[in-house]
Amino acid sequence: MMPSLDDLIGTADAALRTLSGAVHAARPAPEARAEVLDDRERRRSGALMRVNHVGEVCAQALYQAQALTSRSPELRARMDQAAREETDHLAWTLRRLEELGDRPSWLNPLWYAGAFGIGLVAGQLGDRISLGFVVETERQVEQHLDGHLDRLPAGDHASRAIVQQMKEDEARHADAALAAGGASLPAPVRWLMRAASRVMTTTAYRL
Ligand SMILES: [Fe+2]
Ligand SMILES: [Fe+2]
Repeated sequence: MMPSLDDLIGTADAALRTLSGAVHAARPAPEARAEVLDDRERRRSGALMRVNHVGEVCAQALYQAQALTSRSPELRARMDQAAREETDHLAWTLRRLEELGDRPSWLNPLWYAGAFGIGLVAGQLGDRISLGFVVETERQVEQHLDGHLDRLPAGDHASRAIVQQMKEDEARHADAALAAGGASLPAPVRWLMRAASRVMTTTAYRL
């Protein structure tokens, strides 16, 4: 099925919103006690939340590309819905970065383009593989966020509350994609996905 002009305009619009930060959360950010952070802790929180913001930029790109290439209208609706839920994560991490006096990654256009390309490939391989890709991505993100709960300063309650809620949402996204018929991906593909996300997370920590 060829994407219509409307689809393409919608896709371009979503990319611009994601990259410009013109995003609004449907749910308020999880509440947390006020934090007690020294400068070093604040910088570490900023770096970790920048990584998480990049992850959400990539999630937007993946879901947009997979919605565009999905064969069935049901899958497309599902991908669109997931992208909307990920928008909460995108908005929360961006706002948290601002609160910490930090900034998003300079390489966001690059991350977005790369993830969009990967999403197009996954989408081309058919709906079951595409859903399987969602399952694996969300599981890896869930593990990654779990690691951040160890690395975030203990006093950064606001960042921790956001990461905790995101982790729960990503687990739900993985379960839903699996229930919808997601195929399990071969080990080398899963390994490649881990390698790609490691490049992204190490770079985004600084840039
Ligand atoms: Fe997310
Ligand atoms: Fe997710």
